Amino acid sequence: MAIRCFLLPLSLLLLAASSAAAQLEIGYYSKSCPSAEAIVREEMVKIIAAAPSLAGPLLRLHFHDCFVRGCDASVLLDSTPGNTAERDAKPNKSLRGFGSVERVKGKLEAACPGVVSCADVLTLMARDAVVLARGPFWPVALGRRDGKVSDATEASHELPPAFGDVPLLAKIFASKGLDLKDLVVLSGAHTLGTAHCPSYADRLYNSSSAGEDGLVDPSLDSEYAAKLRLKCKSLDEGTGMLSEMDPGSYKTFDTSYYRHVAKRRGLFRSDAALLTDATTREYVQRVATGKFDEAFFRDFSESMIKMGNVGVLTGADGEIRKKCYVLN
Ligand code: HEM
Repeated sequence: MAIRCFLLPLSLLLLAASSAAAQLEIGYYSKSCPSAEAIVREEMVKIIAAAPSLAGPLLRLHFHDCFVRGCDASVLLDSTPGNTAERDAKPNKSLRGFGSVERVKGKLEAACPGVVSCADVLTLMARDAVVLARGPFWPVALGRRDGKVSDATEASHELPPAFGDVPLLAKIFASKGLDLKDLVVLSGAHTLGTAHCPSYADRLYNSSSAGEDGLVDPSLDSEYAAKLRLKCKSLDEGTGMLSEMDPGSYKTFDTSYYRHVAKRRGLFRSDAALLTDATTREYVQRVATGKFDEAFFRDFSESMIKMGNVGVLTGADGEIRKKCYVLN
């Protein structure tokens, strides 16, 4: 790891360090909990070794956290009798990995009680999930604090929907300070993980946008659609069987997602939509050649650093939760 850090491009270090604007710092816990990052890494190695398919869900948890009230671990809070929390909002029903976050947080609490925020834990776990899936490493500036509010309605409004087209997705990303490049780059996270039938069933059976066969969304390759229909049998099938979003390498962080999208085999409308805008299409097609893997890894690192800075709480705001699922 030391060697990989040493070889990090200066631009990434500068970008991460410029998080100082948001009062985050590289090495924030160097005095208060020097082994924090090592503890997260050690646990993540065990978690991913036991369940490699958790890399995707842990990356997604961080994304869903950052897009609602910023990266403040609000996604981790449980609902209470008077409050339906984000994690019970419809788009969050398919989130996984909460138990792993509590496990890592438990180790940190044992080593340095009340010091490391759940928001930082999530950010580090997402980064380590990508590294352990053979993706890039990027430096993570730390010092996020945990929010005290978690509202399901906000999650339903702020998260990008699977049916989103580029104008809608770009608008949602812009509202978080992320641009069109971040959209096409971060969509590359769909190289990891699986999806449930209701996330894409309308592309297989929706007659309003059906192609000549009366079934398939014309922006979806028909052979691929036929395969998907075996796993997702109808519009109201319920969750159905899981589909890999990057078939063949859904546990490995690589660029094959872009090759699927370029061949009209992106799973969601939001993936397919990347071919409808000149900027995003050009990016998809370039990375799909397989000649720009390193550039994609660097772009992904940069966009993740940006996403990890969205709406963070610092200073005296929020709190450092003792348990991630409940306020202190
Ligand atoms: C561009 C807008 C995005 C949309 C519309 C979108 C939508 C979705 C949907 C519908 C699922 C499947 C849920 C299910 O059926 O279980 C999913 C899964 C996933 N998303 Fe996204 N997503 C977007 C961006 C992102 C970003 C920015 C990241 C991370 C940086 C991300 C990471 C993931 C991962 C890793 C999974 C797989 C999770 C698993 O295996 O359980 N997505 N996404």
